[in-house]
Amino acid sequence: MTGIMKSAALAALVLATACGGPKPESTKKVSAIEVMGLTPPDSPWEQMSVEDKEFYMIGKVNPIMKELFVAHDAEEFADFDCVDCHGEEMQEINFKMPAPSMYIVPPEGTPGHRGMLATFPETVKFMQETVTPAMGKLLGVEGFTCAGCHPTEAPKKTAAQKKKATPPNKTRPKTKR
Ligand code: HEC
Ligand code: HEC
Repeated sequence: MTGIMKSAALAALVLATACGGPKPESTKKVSAIEVMGLTPPDSPWEQMSVEDKEFYMIGKVNPIMKELFVAHDAEEFADFDCVDCHGEEMQEINFKMPAPSMYIVPPEGTPGHRGMLATFPETVKFMQETVTPAMGKLLGVEGFTCAGCHPTEAPKKTAAQKKKATPPNKTRPKTKR
């Protein structure tokens, strides 16, 4: 046999073995957290392209976060996916975070915040102790907070638009057009 033929034969053998061999993934359920770990991306998150960020989300963030949410509540989060963090409008807003449709987490010390604690004590504990630190680790971002995923107040659009409509340096009659 020539060298080329030998390697061709070897390749065929390897392929045959690979096809006929056992598939460990299908027989044993692997843990995304155990396999990939709560580790940061290879290059700093801020420097990654949106495409690389998307791959990272699909390959690592989503499976690991799903595992954490399912461990917390298997029934509620059985179908956990991108949409749970990015909201139904995720495609239209290019996955910008926090998604405006997410539950609003009011600033600490406000009546709204106390109301949240009273309404969702278990969820808030899970968010504080598990979800927020895990997301920070997966992004390699220090001081990641609730606000990375949840809006802190209702959309400000109307206020901002009002401001824009009447710039303070221009005198305009206060009549509606
Ligand atoms: C556990 C919550 C969570 C899940 C699940 C999740 N993401 Fe994300 N994703 C984030 C957060 C938080 C950011 C923003 C990080 C930052 O830049 O501060 C983000 C950022 C992104 C970005 C980058 C947006 C930009 O312009 O920088 C893309 C794209 C993205 N996610 C796609 C996906 C896709 C696709 C899925 C599902 C496979 C997914 N994400 C699942 C939390 C999540
Ligand atoms: C990595 C993203 C992420 C971070 C960070 C995060 N959350 Fe969440 N939060 C979620 C997701 C996903 C859900 C479930 C949404 C759903 O039901 O689909 C959720 C749900 C909640 C809910 C329940 C809302 C409801 O209507 O059921 C509360 C309350 C909440 N989060 C509070 C917090 C607080 C407080 C923090 C900070 C300590 C925080 N979250 C940090 C992603 C996040």
